[in-house]
Amino acid sequence: MSAQIGVTGLAVMGANLARNLARNGYTVALHNRSIEKTDTLLEKHGGDGDFIRTETLQELVDSLEKPRRVLIMVKAGKPVDSVIDQLTPLLEPGDIVIDGGNSHYEDTRRREAALSQQDLHFVGVGVSGGEEGALLGPSIMPGGSRESYDSLGPMLEKISAKYNGEPCCRWIGTDGAGHFVKMVHNGIEYADMQVIGEAFDLLRSGAGIEPAEQAKIFTDWNSGTLSSFLIEITAEVLGHVDGRTGKPFVDVVVDSAGQKGTGRWTVVSALELGSPTSGIAESVFARALSSQKDQRVPAQEMLQGHEAAVELPESFVEDVRLALYASKLVSYAQGIDMLTAAAKEYGWDLKLDEIASLWRAGCIIRAELLDDIMKAYAVADERPANLLLAPAFTEAIAGAVPAWRRVVSTAVQLGIPVPVFSASLAYYDGLRRPRLPAALTQGLRDLFGAHTYNRVDTEGTFHTLWGEDKSEIEAVDTH
Ligand code: 6PG
Repeated sequence: MSAQIGVTGLAVMGANLARNLARNGYTVALHNRSIEKTDTLLEKHGGDGDFIRTETLQELVDSLEKPRRVLIMVKAGKPVDSVIDQLTPLLEPGDIVIDGGNSHYEDTRRREAALSQQDLHFVGVGVSGGEEGALLGPSIMPGGSRESYDSLGPMLEKISAKYNGEPCCRWIGTDGAGHFVKMVHNGIEYADMQVIGEAFDLLRSGAGIEPAEQAKIFTDWNSGTLSSFLIEITAEVLGHVDGRTGKPFVDVVVDSAGQKGTGRWTVVSALELGSPTSGIAESVFARALSSQKDQRVPAQEMLQGHEAAVELPESFVEDVRLALYASKLVSYAQGIDMLTAAAKEYGWDLKLDEIASLWRAGCIIRAELLDDIMKAYAVADERPANLLLAPAFTEAIAGAVPAWRRVVSTAVQLGIPVPVFSASLAYYDGLRRPRLPAALTQGLRDLFGAHTYNRVDTEGTFHTLWGEDKSEIEAVDTH
């Protein structure tokens, strides 16, 4: 018996993907650096399907049908390179090496280029859905050659989550495209969680609504336009009572948020692409600030708030819901803008409707509104330049704006930080304003650095002789 796919790296994600493959009828060869993990998996879950136990990479490779498919599920970074280095000498042209970790897309581009020199396919696959998703059906974002997808795609589609029967897995594009899209997914995930946090803080610190009561509010919100996995699990976390103290669980957790890096990568990449991902950036910074306890603790005593007394409107809870919805839409708009910029930069033919479609189930940001996002990009001639300009969303966000403004100004008065609510609103206003102060910026740049400017009333590039008679000359464009 030979296996259709091999998995090396059997920590939770690797083990669960291997089990998912086996449960879907594939024979899976298993390998882990320490054999104990392989044996534990076989002992506990051997009944899931057909597995082949292997002790070395050579055995793993020998157990596979050709072209071989080897899924690497080790920690992103150096461990992936190390496995690739050990594996590739054992493979033959046409074999497929798959990296299912949260690798940086630039690493994936580099690895794909190196392996294609050896006539091997390298497929960087974004996998979302956490441990449970890996086992029961994740959202899968594969990048790499189209040819490799023809061989690997049916398997990935079979084990992926399904939305109305459609697999949440599509070929994304060449080389690092899959990992890039997964990275942006995570950027949106960060922003999504931060806006939920801001809503929680406003309801708690602003309106005095206790977590148990908020759990009900979030459950209620989950049945409307906000319906999503993250809102659903927010209700679960807020409703949870700590077993040791009887306090709300959320009150016994240290308020410093960790991060493994994908959110940060998204923002670095957005800066490089010139894509204004302000909401996502603020969500990464909010985690960073939360972790600076050494500064936050003395600041509590030393920095004055001068909060104003604010009478909350009757509609406060509903206002917060609308502000959350609008800010969430902005983070999707910003993520999609990044995808558009990256497609140009890297020559990827990213299909935004397909990407939205495979985020509809299985992944962490799965949400009702992704179905509408998918539809917004489905017709080639009607694709909006920005998600917020898609008719369905232009209207929805317009309906939320008055509440959004009330919430942001109330938060400012109360001294409750709402970095993503407010950055998203500033983005919205920045997008819609007929004139921005960028004109003044251009004037300043021209004065101190002769950086030139364009005029509103005539073609060409100009410079004012600021140090002389302030007359204007035509100049070479140095924008
Ligand atoms: C997913 C998640 C998953 C994970 C990340 C983010 O899509 O299944 O994004 O990949 O939660 O590691 O974790 P951090 O919050 O630690 O960056």
